Amino acid sequence: MSSTPSNANYQFTNTWFESIKPIWDKLIPQIKPAKILEIGVYEGASSCYLISTLAHQNKIELHCIDSWEGGIEHKLGGFVEADMSSVEQRFSHNIKIAAAQVSGNLDLHIHKGYSDFHLAKLLANGAGNSFDFIYIDGSHQAPDVLCDAVLSFRLLKKGGFIIFDDYLWSEDLPGGVDPIRCPKLAIDAFTNIYCRKIKVISAWLYQLYVQKIED
Ligand SMILES: C[S@@+](CC[C@H](N)C(=O)[O-])C[C@H]1O[C@@H](n2cnc3c(N)ncnc32)[C@H](O)[C@@H]1O
Repeated sequence: MSSTPSNANYQFTNTWFESIKPIWDKLIPQIKPAKILEIGVYEGASSCYLISTLAHQNKIELHCIDSWEGGIEHKLGGFVEADMSSVEQRFSHNIKIAAAQVSGNLDLHIHKGYSDFHLAKLLANGAGNSFDFIYIDGSHQAPDVLCDAVLSFRLLKKGGFIIFDDYLWSEDLPGGVDPIRCPKLAIDAFTNIYCRKIKVISAWLYQLYVQKIED
């Protein structure tokens, strides 16, 4: 089990966030989001990064959505990649460490369950047009990603940013790539249909960075 360099007590079992960090190091301090939503948090690597990067100086409100059931792509293959209850425990452990370092500057909301339900609930509770930054890294199935994108757009304020992770991700299936089981088709559909309301930011292409310019 590895730990991030900044705190030896963190418990992370993968290095997914390490390749993203250099780009976020440039972007996040520029946009300084105060109200943040993450879809798919796993062990909290990106959540802990956002807390430790932003909440030392400013108060942030962070909403984390996760079913802690893993992706459907793992279940369809007949196995679950990780013991997800241990993943959830490591998320709680890691978030506690990050939160303790920023004392009263973190307003944390954990929404356990499926993203379609929780995104719709946030909208129904009046959170439309209120988020500065939304990170979409939940289900990788195109229909789910499309639903996450459309509901996130409604939750995002004008000028706010959505980052899609795994834009170019695909599974190594016996019959080749199935585009319906990848995020790209959904992200392309979203960026095409919303082209008058968003600006695609030029950045590292494994993720796709989008700014909302119109409601
Ligand atoms: C790739 S991991 C997220 C990684 C995390 N962003 C990080 O930087 O470490 C994807 C997560 O999305 C969650 N997930 C998958 N489908 C979901 C859905 N429909 N609703 C909510 N969470 C989902 C999984 O349980 C898993 O924890």
